[in-house]
Amino acid sequence: MARERFLIKGLGGAQALSGSIAVKGAKNAALKALASSILFEDGITLNNVPDIEDVKRMNDILSALGVVVSNKKEGEYALSVPGTLATDLPVDLAQKMRASIVLTGPILSRFGKVSFPHPGGCVIGERPIDLFLSGFEAMGARVTRESDRYTLFVPDGRLSGTSIFFKKPSVTATETLIMAATLAKGETIIKNAAREPEIGILADFLNSCGARIRGAGDANIYIEGGGLLSGVRDVFHTPSDRIETGSFLILGALAGVNFEIKNCNPKHVEALTEILRQVGVAVDVGKNSIMLSKNAHPSSLTSVDIETREYPGFPTDLQAPMTVFLTQTSGQSLVFETIFEGRLSYVEELVRMGADIKALDPHRVIVRGPKALKGREMESPDLRAGLAFVIAAIVAKGDSVIHNVYNIDRGYEKIEERLRGVGVDIKRIGP
Ligand code: EPZ
Repeated sequence: MARERFLIKGLGGAQALSGSIAVKGAKNAALKALASSILFEDGITLNNVPDIEDVKRMNDILSALGVVVSNKKEGEYALSVPGTLATDLPVDLAQKMRASIVLTGPILSRFGKVSFPHPGGCVIGERPIDLFLSGFEAMGARVTRESDRYTLFVPDGRLSGTSIFFKKPSVTATETLIMAATLAKGETIIKNAAREPEIGILADFLNSCGARIRGAGDANIYIEGGGLLSGVRDVFHTPSDRIETGSFLILGALAGVNFEIKNCNPKHVEALTEILRQVGVAVDVGKNSIMLSKNAHPSSLTSVDIETREYPGFPTDLQAPMTVFLTQTSGQSLVFETIFEGRLSYVEELVRMGADIKALDPHRVIVRGPKALKGREMESPDLRAGLAFVIAAIVAKGDSVIHNVYNIDRGYEKIEERLRGVGVDIKRIGP
């Protein structure tokens, strides 16, 4: 599968896409809900789960620990959790996916011990785990590290609630410590917590199953620890993926007319819709859909500076598609990536396609547009930059080949089928 590739016939700047494209369930919500199964005495059921590689990887790890995972029907999973589980995350599986780190919270709080390798994942820069480790230590865990493996144990078996301050708001550290605190003794307060929508969605689900979490979605979160949760009380409905929504919106603004994004939550992408409106895109927001009817050509849109920020700011996961967009608008834009330091290296490939992009430092590039892009053969470096290359290839003149489609499949379910539905000429070619 790693050797599959996409063949895309570019539109040469024409706005020829139209119709509706549906957004799937959010990867970064589903992964955390799957991990939360370990907090349950019985198990959980999830629906609207996207059929993507990262969900398979998370389920492979849960199965290796002893959770029984069954895929009831399309998008629906039932996980049943036995009384004991293995507590060592397998190296090969955990290193393939950064999100595996969220399992450490529920395992440690339920079983008093966990061991795991330094997590792997996308090539978007150094990904420290100090906030997780110091949070667990503050709750009473002892941490040792031998070569690349961390071993944590709680001397009296159960974590204790405490006050934790994050020097930076981290999404997965917030989710992991919420889950750890759910089974801890007493109250935990997480200060300067991340506020991404997936955190409130996870907390609401856990609360509906017996947890006591207040303030998720705000900077201070209060968790009153208690016993195991029960999954008979509710089903986790995976919300729509806001990054997919934003990526389709950018694609529509570049190459669409009468282009509708369905099954989405427009409130989760306001940072993007606001910027698109500011540069001149007519964005028509419904309750669960966004319509782009009378699109101006991107060359008649003005450029704009963007700066990635924690939610509700402009998401780092939309930075790459937005940079493609800015290669087509008129004028100069500064793209400032404030969250990760390795997340702009893909721009070299856009330059080879004809874009005018100058790197100022690892966090900032200047984009000058509009510049016609030419189709190329390229490699998907990670899932978000991979989708940005798909968008660039659609806009470009001529054919493109995108290798390493596996990296795109990690986060986007059958993307080529959905893109074909709005008129993109894209084929998946086997090894
Ligand atoms: C989550 O990653 C998402 N992943 C990422 O999605 C997303 O890009 C990112 O949040 C930011 O929105 C999942 O939800 C699985 P962070 P996460 O910890 O939690 C620093 C995608 O493509 N930090 O919020 O790993 C860190 O270096 C991806 O789907 C520490 O310093 O990101 C960064 O500068 C990739 N110490 C900042 O915090 C720590 O212990 C925010 O990162 C942890 C993080």
